Amino acid sequence: HDTWSGYLVEAQRYLPNSTSRFALLAFINIPLIAVVLNVLRQLVLPKHPSLPPEVFHFLPFIGSAPGYGNDPIAFLDSCRKKYGDVFTFVLLGRKMTVALGSAGNNFVLGGKVANLSAEDAYTHLTTPVFGKDVVYDCPNEKLMEQKKFMKVGLSTDNMRAYVEMIENEVSEFLRKDPSFRIFQMNDVNEWGQFDALKATSEMTILTASRTLQGKEVRGNLDATFAQLFTDLDGGFTPLNFMFPNLPLESYRKRDRAQTKMAEFYINIIKARKEGTSTNDEPDMISALMGQTYRNGTPLPDHEIAHIMIALLMAGQHTSSATAAWALLHLADNPEIAEELYQEQVKHFSNPDGTLRLATYEELKSLPLLDSVIRETLRMHPPIHSIMRYVRADLVVPGTLSAPSKDSQYVVPKGHYVLASPAVSQADKSLWLRAEEWMPSRWTDPEGQAQQAFKQYADENGEKVDYGFGAVSKGTESPYQPFGAGRHRCIGEQFAYLQLGTLISTVVRSIEMRIPGGVPPPNYHTMITLPKAPRNITYRRRKFE
Ligand code: HEM
Repeated sequence: HDTWSGYLVEAQRYLPNSTSRFALLAFINIPLIAVVLNVLRQLVLPKHPSLPPEVFHFLPFIGSAPGYGNDPIAFLDSCRKKYGDVFTFVLLGRKMTVALGSAGNNFVLGGKVANLSAEDAYTHLTTPVFGKDVVYDCPNEKLMEQKKFMKVGLSTDNMRAYVEMIENEVSEFLRKDPSFRIFQMNDVNEWGQFDALKATSEMTILTASRTLQGKEVRGNLDATFAQLFTDLDGGFTPLNFMFPNLPLESYRKRDRAQTKMAEFYINIIKARKEGTSTNDEPDMISALMGQTYRNGTPLPDHEIAHIMIALLMAGQHTSSATAAWALLHLADNPEIAEELYQEQVKHFSNPDGTLRLATYEELKSLPLLDSVIRETLRMHPPIHSIMRYVRADLVVPGTLSAPSKDSQYVVPKGHYVLASPAVSQADKSLWLRAEEWMPSRWTDPEGQAQQAFKQYADENGEKVDYGFGAVSKGTESPYQPFGAGRHRCIGEQFAYLQLGTLISTVVRSIEMRIPGGVPPPNYHTMITLPKAPRNITYRRRKFE
């Protein structure tokens, strides 16, 4: 028999009686029955009018996972057209209620801790990687205090010191890395080629370890530390998010690497305390050592270690992906890269024609460099979905979405809510030529970016202190690459410094082209990355 039903008929002949035949048939048809019941439930059963509309799906449990997982932005956009700004979809057994637009961002990011919890949404992914008692493995108030401690390592004085260290690392990389050296041989300045993401990932870890992570980490980057990072990173994937514990080697590697990396940091702290290791440059470990919680408890060594791992993971892929997208777009728009180079020449030329180092303040005040980073983060926010777990039934404001003018939607306890700044940042009704990478939109006084900002006061808007210093609330803004509200990123200034120094040092050194154009995004990783191949061709500006 060459058909499935043929095999079935054959199998039944060997079964002793009609009961077991029926059992076999029922067993084989369970998935089919589940699909039919799931479809009937959606089409026939009456739905409570306060529940947001549910995205139609055939497969129970799996739900809309393939659509959302392959291209979340296209999926959310198409659901928005069908169901409006608020709807629920099933993602591997979880009910995700999406709230789109700036009102949706405000609903999710501006919610109260009693109703919406980040730790309940993320801890199963983050705690095995970061370790116990930090970030999402502790109550929210404790995280707010930890963020205050982290900010000490990101003070303006520290930032000023970091500029030169970052520039040194990037310049050294461009001098020594094989993909940047090979074409500078034999006195010929040919065009070479490098993988945008591979290069920016290396520059990001080199610069972050030289500055925030400290000299001991930088010193071990070529040896033990790199392997530990790779193993930990292998445990920070969408698979880990969906299934926190599977009997797979990558999960075992993750757990071993977490223990070893925490020990590595604890040993650094011990050595510094005992004076056997001295650090003459500012870094995050020294900023965290000596911090005390409000209740008088000193920040324990294991928490410092786990915070250091959290910062490493939070900053690495976000910054390297942004830097890669920025270089890809500059390669695709050589005239903007040239303007960027001229901005450097205008501000930093020495009398002998060389370019001097920018200070932290100068770097922050370069309009085009700033616009290039902002625009890259608009089109390619590394984190496309921000989630919270719903701890108590939550009424959706009628201004956001409502079933009728007299009633309101309620998101039930046990759902997750999801905001997507990536959707509002690409919204054609808010951004002129939203699908184009156009840094000039940020400096043009009539540009749509300015209007979007005016409409939803952001930088100059309401300030709130959630426990880690006053930040602009910004929960309603359609532009939120760093999130908003109490979970807002504290790494923004550092990221701008790291990206600004990396991009300007690269633009000072090379001209770039990308014959095939900018590659599409890959959504199969936690952070939205450019798909391979993502090779940039380059030529040195000054051939040495
Ligand atoms: C939070 C984005 C770099 C540390 C966040 C959030 C976003 C974000 C969207 C909010 C997450 C949520 O609400 O669920 C980015 C982007 C970066 C970047 C786009 C670079 C381009 C960094 C760096 C660091 C860092 C360099 C560390 C030095 C953190 C921390 C939080 C955070 C500690 C707080 C988490 C919380 O309160 O729940 N980031 N980040 N980030 N980020 Fe970043």
